[in-house]
Amino acid sequence: MAADGSQFAFTPEVEAETLPAWEKVKRHVTPMEWRAHAPLIAEINRLKREKNAVILAHNYMTPEIFHGVGDYVGDSLGLAKEAAKSDAAVIVQAGVHFMAETSKILSPEKRVLIPDLRAGCSLASSITGADVRLIKQRYPGLPVVTYVNTTADVKAETDICCTSANAVQVVEEAARLWGVDKVVLIPDEFLARNVARQTDIGIIAWKGRCEVHERFTAEDILEIKAAYPGAEVLAHPECPAEVLEVSDFAGSTAAMNDYVLQRKPKRVVLITECSMADNVAADAHGTEFVRPCNLCPHMKRISLENIYEALLHDRHEVTVDPAIAERARLAVQRMIDLPPPARPARYDLVKARHHVDVELI
Ligand code: 13P
Ligand code: SF4
Repeated sequence: MAADGSQFAFTPEVEAETLPAWEKVKRHVTPMEWRAHAPLIAEINRLKREKNAVILAHNYMTPEIFHGVGDYVGDSLGLAKEAAKSDAAVIVQAGVHFMAETSKILSPEKRVLIPDLRAGCSLASSITGADVRLIKQRYPGLPVVTYVNTTADVKAETDICCTSANAVQVVEEAARLWGVDKVVLIPDEFLARNVARQTDIGIIAWKGRCEVHERFTAEDILEIKAAYPGAEVLAHPECPAEVLEVSDFAGSTAAMNDYVLQRKPKRVVLITECSMADNVAADAHGTEFVRPCNLCPHMKRISLENIYEALLHDRHEVTVDPAIAERARLAVQRMIDLPPPARPARYDLVKARHHVDVELI
């Protein structure tokens, strides 16, 4: 029988143990829902201790996962770094498959589990290792920078990885190391276009898209601004450039979180996946969140129920061919080893640099 929490009771002990998480989520989760979530949260946390496991939870996880069972929470870059540092025996990736592969690449000796093998990503499925080999034949001598939202096969063909938090820095570093003025940046066309507006390095891009962020339009943003006066608009760089042009700030999910917590805007709109606002709002009292909402169907495959099942039955184990993992590790490690950027990748210069063209493969 699949776990739905109903086999565990909401006892006074469970209530007390999960109180800190409840305090975080109570503005977004009803007491009725919490009585169902809390016993599973307590059980998952018990299993983690028993199995020496940690849960790496992406910012797009629902609040009960993010605040209830996540040991490390953050953006793709932060989670990759935590995977490399962790000395747990088991990593449960509360995120999508490419993230679990990245954890396995960085921690080959650990057992890496993903609660649902179908948790994919439209960017990761837009390109294969064979595509990258053809790109390298077509552009010999140019470094290939690959977004971490890719499979291990693609990373293995890559010179250096990047995330939305460091893409500008990685592109500039790759150009410097290779002694060239152009780099290949794949597979997200919009990230590539947004990076191109931040640097003088020429960009060759691929036509991959994030199915969540590509749906936002400049009209959506202008409408929201008109309906909610004074709202500060924060957009993810996987959005089209026209969206960033009418936004007030752009950055990775962690950068958006930091923006809200540090600048404490009165009203804010996060142009990204739905759960992000719920998770940031837990610590941002005094900020009103306007919530346009595009769900990532892949991230939403992860639930408390299947996290519990993953820990209980040690499933689904994510493996990467060791030869591929070794080559992919070089590309990810090169990124992790970069010094902290001199200027944060905030993409908020976009308005100053219109119409910087990229070459699409
Ligand atoms: P970051 O968390 O790195 O900003 O990436 C967002 C994303 O879409 C991951 O799938
Ligand atoms: Fe992939 Fe977009 Fe979902 Fe992130 S939000 S996992 S980039 S489809």
